[in-house]
Amino acid sequence: MSGVTAAERSLMRVAVDAATEARRRVAPWPHVGAAVLTDDGTVVAGATGSFPTGPHAEVDAIANAGAARLAALATTLEPCDHHGNTPPCTDAIIAAGIPRVLVGIEDPDPKVAGRGIARLRAAGIQVDIGAEAAAVERQLAAYLHQRRTGRAYCVVKVATSLDGRIAAADGTSRWISGAEARRDAHELRADSQAIIVGAGTARADDPALTVRDAGGPPIGAQPLRVLLDGRGRVPATGALADTSLAPTLVVTTDRAPRDYRAAWQASGAEVVEVGFVVDAAGSGVDLAATLELLGARGVLQAMVEGGAYLHGALLRAGLADRIVAYVANTLLGSDGLAGYGLGGVATIADAPRWRLVDVARCGDDVRLDYVAPPKER
Ligand SMILES: NC(=O)c1ccc[n+]([C@@H]2O[C@H](COP(=O)([O-])OP(=O)(O)OC[C@H]3O[C@@H](n4cnc5c(N)ncnc54)[C@H](OP(=O)(O)O)[C@@H]3O)[C@@H](O)[C@H]2O)c1
Repeated sequence: MSGVTAAERSLMRVAVDAATEARRRVAPWPHVGAAVLTDDGTVVAGATGSFPTGPHAEVDAIANAGAARLAALATTLEPCDHHGNTPPCTDAIIAAGIPRVLVGIEDPDPKVAGRGIARLRAAGIQVDIGAEAAAVERQLAAYLHQRRTGRAYCVVKVATSLDGRIAAADGTSRWISGAEARRDAHELRADSQAIIVGAGTARADDPALTVRDAGGPPIGAQPLRVLLDGRGRVPATGALADTSLAPTLVVTTDRAPRDYRAAWQASGAEVVEVGFVVDAAGSGVDLAATLELLGARGVLQAMVEGGAYLHGALLRAGLADRIVAYVANTLLGSDGLAGYGLGGVATIADAPRWRLVDVARCGDDVRLDYVAPPKER
């Protein structure tokens, strides 16, 4: 990385920005950005096109530059070197005669995994890896996690009072946070390919879990709504059963009543069975299997929207990768429902410490964005 100039780093920053714009329409592909520098000093950006036939970012940037001779290309993720839905990006880079390539990070996808970089170097192109790598890793956290573990990246979203409660004593929780925080949460939904909810919340709140009020780039499709209902307690009558709003996947087990599956299927929902897991802390559908099942379907990011029991189960299992907590300007007292169904930590030295990656003000509320400490992964 030592040979990377300031101008090249700023070329990579253009690529990072271009990727941001593509983030809602490309999954299960990663949202990648690219930028080319022409011989006369013009910078031209490109980004991943819509799955499954759109151009990859490198090809898009080269095409956007037209007939200009190209001095350098920056791409946030290693170019592919295989025929998938599109031809290899390495072919396009070599054919364009680009002498210098900057790669943000290597692609862990086993189909790529260093082959793209090796191919470019073998063609005599000078390749450097690592410019703006931290920004790219954060941008592609869900993709990297899904490719490395096979599981969807799990984002637990919680709206709590100042004293950490997610519902009042009578179970009501609408609305703890204000309009700005709720709008912000729709952005997070729009950035996710699946929205998971526990049976308790589905019964208490009858949530629609659709993207309705998000600014920013348009979504390619409504996220998949995923109901975790191990015992088959949620009737196929509420908003989740209205599959004209968005697709619904019901994850249940062999403990559900016999007519349960048919009732949900009649609504247009898909029903899958996974194992029923019982441990000292609780019970329900196999959460790791559920996240694997979503990962295998191309879900990169799954957002969990409650409730407390499910949050606790995910945290105890070490399956929560990120927590986005909206802390609202109200107090609900000790009779309110605690935000995370976790047992107590015996002593302060045992308390896990999450890493704060962002803080934002949403009206009178605050959004705190934390990623899991490495030992919890
Ligand atoms: N403020 C907020 O951000 C917010 C967000 C959501 C909900 N809420 C509030 O939270 C309350 C509901 O929360 P809750 O804790 O009672 O219920 P919950 O976490 O929504 O649902 C828990 C249920 O999900 C099912 N489940 C299936 N597999 C599971 C697994 N592996 N681990 C954990 N649960 C699994 C279980 O039912 P089975 O055993 O029958 O499968 C379990 O009883 C409501 O008052 C709601 O208004 C607040």
